[in-house]
Amino acid sequence: MFQGHFIVFEGIDGSGTTTQCLLLAAHLDAAGIPVTLTREPGGTPAAEQIRNLVLDPTLGEISHMAELFLYAASRSQHVEELIIPSLERGDVVICDRYIASSLAYQGFGRGLDLGVVSQVNQLAVGGCCPDLTLYLDLPTEVARTRRDQRGGEVDRLEQLGEGLQERVARGYREIAAGEEKALVFDARLTKERLALSIRDALRERWSWFPKERE
Ligand code: TYD
Repeated sequence: MFQGHFIVFEGIDGSGTTTQCLLLAAHLDAAGIPVTLTREPGGTPAAEQIRNLVLDPTLGEISHMAELFLYAASRSQHVEELIIPSLERGDVVICDRYIASSLAYQGFGRGLDLGVVSQVNQLAVGGCCPDLTLYLDLPTEVARTRRDQRGGEVDRLEQLGEGLQERVARGYREIAAGEEKALVFDARLTKERLALSIRDALRERWSWFPKERE
């Protein structure tokens, strides 16, 4: 079975998952711990191509079921090609989004049956589940302000507006509450304070987790 640790970050668009993935990876890397930092959709060449397709703002509406399968196809490739080999090598795998994103966006956001979303994903990943999922909880208004300040291109899901984000945010709270291997953080903190509180929580949980550097 896998040796390494599989850590996933989840949250609505603008909650800061990408930044926190980077900060956690840098902390582990500085302590000499081997890290694989990756993201979904994407993470391998084929899966990144699926990412380009599913997030393409010019694609317009695709069926919700097609969207579910595209994310699952990307995930399946990612698990087989990158996540499992990295865990077997003993790396800590840090992944920006995973199955909970499909439950939150395709299930709660799009209204697909949660049992179906879960089943499709179990088929896609086999038994490859995170050791811990870190949920970054942020009010949708704050997330929107952050996204506006960040500027840049708006992807297909961000285009869909606040109704979806609100349902996704509520979905994440429900998913996290029903999950054993989950921690929820208040993402209104500054990125440095949030990173510190994430590291404190992981240190409390895992004796191997590196101390703060002086
Ligand atoms: P993300 O990479 O966080 O976007 P960005 O780089 O712009 O911050 O995520 C891409 C979008 O895809 C995001 O809106 C969430 C959505 N998504 C799903 O709907 N289902 C999924 O399974 C995943 C992984 C992402």
